[in-house]
Formats: sequence, structure tokens, C-alpha cells
Amino acid sequence: MITFPGYETVIRKVYENKQEHVFEYWNDLNDSEKKNLLDDLSDVDFSLLLSLFFSTEDAAEMHFDAAPYIALPKSSDEKKEYEKAREAGDLHVRQGKVAAFVVAGGQGSRLGYDGPKGMFPVGPVSGKTLFHIHAEKIAAYSQKYCVHIPFLIMTSRSNHQVTVDYFNKNDFFGLGRDNVFIFPQNMIPSLDAQGKLILESKKSIFKNPDGHGGSLTALHTSGVLERLKERGVETISYFQVDNPLVRIVDSAFIGFHVLRGADVSSKAVRKAYPEEKVGVFVRYGNNTIGVVEYSDMPEEKTHSLDEKGDLRFSSGSIAIHLFQREFVERITAGTDIALPFHTARKKIKALVGGVRKEVEGFKFEKFVFDALPLTEKNIVFETLREDEFAPVKNSSGVDSVESAQRMMSEQHRRWLRNRGIQVPDKTRVIEISPLVAVEQEDLDPEIKIPDEELVYINSNR
Ligand code: UTP
Repeated sequence: MITFPGYETVIRKVYENKQEHVFEYWNDLNDSEKKNLLDDLSDVDFSLLLSLFFSTEDAAEMHFDAAPYIALPKSSDEKKEYEKAREAGDLHVRQGKVAAFVVAGGQGSRLGYDGPKGMFPVGPVSGKTLFHIHAEKIAAYSQKYCVHIPFLIMTSRSNHQVTVDYFNKNDFFGLGRDNVFIFPQNMIPSLDAQGKLILESKKSIFKNPDGHGGSLTALHTSGVLERLKERGVETISYFQVDNPLVRIVDSAFIGFHVLRGADVSSKAVRKAYPEEKVGVFVRYGNNTIGVVEYSDMPEEKTHSLDEKGDLRFSSGSIAIHLFQREFVERITAGTDIALPFHTARKKIKALVGGVRKEVEGFKFEKFVFDALPLTEKNIVFETLREDEFAPVKNSSGVDSVESAQRMMSEQHRRWLRNRGIQVPDKTRVIEISPLVAVEQEDLDPEIKIPDEELVYINSNR
């Protein structure tokens, strides 16, 4: 058995769990590298890994039906109810009870961008980055509601420092250093096909970020949840970094959430076609609402029609949620209610026998929507895709930079048209800074659009 002063317990744990192969290169390491490896091993939860390795999931076995949802208002009664919700939501925001929370710890592998996805330029004319656009939206809402809306940013170990540096360099985009909280998510080791830890280098084991579901735990472990409590924040508006169209502060959504006493609320859009790769909202036999991933959806359910001949499972999740702070406190307090891990078989770059190569392995991740069935009450709220969801996942084609930029420009063109503002024929692409209008109603109808092909509106000229 190897020895190193101060690390006796960790070393014993590694041997007890038959993972001592991680010390294969021990004699090649200097003291600081040895310490690095042992630190890396010290937070490994071996019993959790063991149970994950032997667990299997089978969503197809579960019984569920389509989830009920709050539909877009059509009748005058529905419109009145919407209006009431909007007022309640406005008040909640104005009282400083809402924080914005972006998850930005992903690796963005499909996009193939070398850096945090939040630093990817996406403004169709301005070229502003995803982070910049989100921050300007939050600044605009803060101004509108006369409050400082806290901006929470979850990073991962690999992109944390670059993200912090980026916000520092840009002076926190005017939000004020005290209102921006940047914290990394937790990491979990991957295992090889035999259930063994994988060496990434001689002095470190391979770990991956614990999924967007890890965001709720990270709120707790980073101490941010506690800070939100001190500030009187009650509701956390959660969104993904790669959606430049997201309405970060939506008063009607917030209002329904508050008035109905929900622990979690989620936005849904109609699925574009049955096989679309989005999770769908379902109601399980015990009446809890959840999301079933497209890959877990049985074929016949994917195509199932209701009595009216419409797609039965048609509410697609767009990863926009509201979480009550107290609910997050409850599920992260170390009790036995917690989000489960999902297992994905992946190829992992490893150091084996002194050579770098890809090995078959298992990565474990939590999904944020697994919080839904843990709630006492949650609601699903319908919205329009073209107003809220333009994910930047790929560099071209579906859900790409191009499609997101097109949707941003189309949305802004729609806003101008609805406000009776003329857009010159020559204008091909148009973008409005959130500081000018974060919602359609903020647009000054007197605004003049220059006769140019590419137009960026960043002041109320
Ligand atoms: P995706 O599942 O689309 O992953 O994340 P990704 O890393 O952005 O892209 P690919 O799959 O590697 O191409 C959805 C959202 O969840 C965040 C991402 O940053 C994105 O906002 N996320 C994902 C995390 O914050 N942490 C994770 O561990 C995983």
C-alpha cells in the first residue's frame, strides 16, 4: 500500500474499493503531484459510484400520460386570469424576490467552440456574446423594476476561471460585482466498463461535470442559496446559456407560479413534429409531473394521438424553469430526497499502460427536470417557440448559430411591426439591444430605423 502523510483515510478508502490501479504511476510523481492525485480522490463517493455502476434505468416500463398545462390565453376569462398573473409577477419582481440563474457548465462539444459557450458571439448584427446578451437583459429588467436582479452563473471546473475573467474584464456588464455570482458545479468521476476509476493523467482521475441537474446542489454547496435567502430572493429563474431568445423575467409565468404556490414551474412549447429531440412533460400514475427524454419515449407514445387527433405528448420542455428557493433548500439539504444520476456510455480519453487512448466508459449526470416529480406542486406553462427558444447547439443546420440568429432577427422585426414601426425594405437583418427593449412593449413607436441592410438598434433614436 502506498503512503503519504495526512492522507491515510483516502488511501485506505481507495484500496478498500479495489481502485488502487490509480496509483500505477505513483513512483513517477513528485510530492505536489502526489498530493494533487490524493486531493482528486478525496471527494470521491465510492458507494455512490458502486450503486450507479450496478443500477439500470428503464423509463419505458413507467406508466404516464400527457401532463396538464396552462395554455396560451384565448377566451376573455383566460386573458383576465393572465392579466392577474402578470400583475402578481410584476409585484414579485419589483419586491426583489426573483434571481436569474444560467447554467453554463456544459462542454458545448457539438458547437465545437474552444471556450465557454457563454462567450460565443451570437448577436446577428452586434456580434455580442451569449453572456453579454443575457447580462443586458438582466440589466434592462433590473432597471424596469427598480431592483438589482442577482445574476447567478454556474460554470464547470474547466471553464470557471475564463468566465470569471471575462466578466471582470467587461466590468460585469454594468450589473455590479455584488449582483453577479459565478460558481463552479461539482464533478463526478467516470468509470470504465469494469467499474474502475479512469486516470486522465498520471496525477489526476477523469471526472465530468455532474450535469445541469447538479446546478441545484451547486447553489447549495457554493453558499449562493444562503446569500439569496439573505437578500430576500424567493424565486430562481433558471435557463440555459445557449438560448439567446429566453425571456429571463416573464411576469405572467412568475405570477402563475406564485399564485398557484408551485415549487417548480416549467415552460413548454408545442413539439414541432413527433420525433423532435426534446423531452416531453408527462403525468405519472401517482399524479406527479415529470419530463421524459425523447430517447426514453416508447415509439408508440411518440406517435400517439388524442381524441381530437392531435399529438398526445406534445408539450416539449425548453429547459426554462422557476424554482422556489425553499424547495431547492429542501432537496439539497442532504436528506434522502435528491436528484438521481443518469448513466451514459461514452468514449473517454484515458492514460492506460503509459499510453493515451480512448476507453469505453460510463459518465454520470443529473438532469434538472428530475426535480419536478420531487415537488408538491408544479405547473407547466405554454409559450411560443418563436418567442423564447432558439438553442445554439450546432455550428450549422438545426439548432445552430444561424437558426438562432435568424430567430432573433425575426423576433425583433415582429416586435417592430406589432408596434407599427416601419422597417425599410433594404433591411435584411435587424437586432435590438435589450437595453433599448427587452420586451416588445418597451419599444418607442417613434423610433426611426436607418435605411441599411444590417441594423443594430442600441439607442432610442
Ligand atoms: P447540453 O446538454 O446541451 O450540453 O446542455 P452542452 O455542453 O451545452 O453541449 P454538448 O451536448 O456538449 O454539445 C444544456 C445546458 O446545460 C448546461 C449547458 O451549459 C447548457 O446551458 N450544462 C450541461 C451544465 O451547466 N452542466 C452540465 O454538466 C451539463
